[in-house]
Amino acid sequence: RKRYTGLIETYRDRLPVADDTRLISLGEGNTPLIQLQNIPRLIGKDVDIYVKFEGLNPTGSFKDRGMTMAVTKAVEEGSQAIICASTGNTSASAAAYAVRAGIKAFVLIPEGKIALGKLAQTLMYGAKIIQINGNFDQGMALVKEIVDHAPVSIVNSINPFRLEGQKTAAFEIIDELGTAPDYHCLPVGNAGNISAYWKGYKEYSTDIGSLKAVTNKRPVMCGYQAAGAAPFIAREMIDHPETVATAIRIGRPQSWDLAWTAQRESEGWFAAMTDEQILAAQKLLSSNEGVFCEPASAASLAGALHDIELGNIPEGSTIVCTLTGNGIKDPDIAIKQCKDAHPVTIEADLDAVKKAILDSL
Ligand code: F0G
Repeated sequence: RKRYTGLIETYRDRLPVADDTRLISLGEGNTPLIQLQNIPRLIGKDVDIYVKFEGLNPTGSFKDRGMTMAVTKAVEEGSQAIICASTGNTSASAAAYAVRAGIKAFVLIPEGKIALGKLAQTLMYGAKIIQINGNFDQGMALVKEIVDHAPVSIVNSINPFRLEGQKTAAFEIIDELGTAPDYHCLPVGNAGNISAYWKGYKEYSTDIGSLKAVTNKRPVMCGYQAAGAAPFIAREMIDHPETVATAIRIGRPQSWDLAWTAQRESEGWFAAMTDEQILAAQKLLSSNEGVFCEPASAASLAGALHDIELGNIPEGSTIVCTLTGNGIKDPDIAIKQCKDAHPVTIEADLDAVKKAILDSL
């Protein structure tokens, strides 16, 4: 069996790389598409729900798909440094791929609003961390300006190579299911990912030059935002986004137009989930399926369950939910979620262990 060496190598004919391009890769992509077994039974609905567990990428989020392409191209163009604004995952990913490439990474993050694991990763990869007294949207605005004043390449999703890399998740789903799902649900923050998936689904369902369409089917795209950070539901940019799901604490999405195009062309929709719904979905998934995603990721499942309940997604449907990041990234939220599950402390002897087990059976 051939060694897996990352998504650029796998989908090279559909990505903008030359034969002699030096690929900056950590073996990203090829993430599991896990069929939920217990939750459909629990909700009593006849639906096939799959989760695309992007938390199993090298730095624990879907950002690695975009970053392998963005950093590969930055290096090809001779960049010595990259920069991004981030709610945490992009910064971790940028930091890892930069060190892999041997270039510098600068990351702008909102002070105090980054999940602990993401901060730890970014520190360990050795990026230059610049904390701002402001939110992601302010950081993003600064990053767009700074490129005129310093020799750095932006690796946020406004860099088109990011979406090129991220579109491969749609390819993987079609390659695995043999066709597109009926519905594709995902969390929406800066709106790059929903735009990338839609690009991928369109490209795999269209003849492009010598590349023949792989399927004639496209999914309905369903984008879910946190209720306190929901510009797509307000239909306008918002200034003070707030949510427990810090990854999607964004009020001014950069891929605004692309995401609306995905919604319109796929005849999909956007909806808002409350923090309570998001946290409930995160817990439901971990405690019933053994899949632990971060809060923002759970917005996709929360939304899917909500729209199944309302009948917006009919029974008999095949649904894919993207789980964008690993639950381990945000240990504070996880421990808060389980504050009633007190671990027992006992003497280190056999009888005490036996009693602890028999008492709980
Ligand atoms: N889920 C997670 C875990 C994320 O980190 C992000 C975005 C999203 C969903 C939303 O994806 O922005 O493409 O709509 N995180 C960015 C970051 C903003 O800086 O890590 P999107």
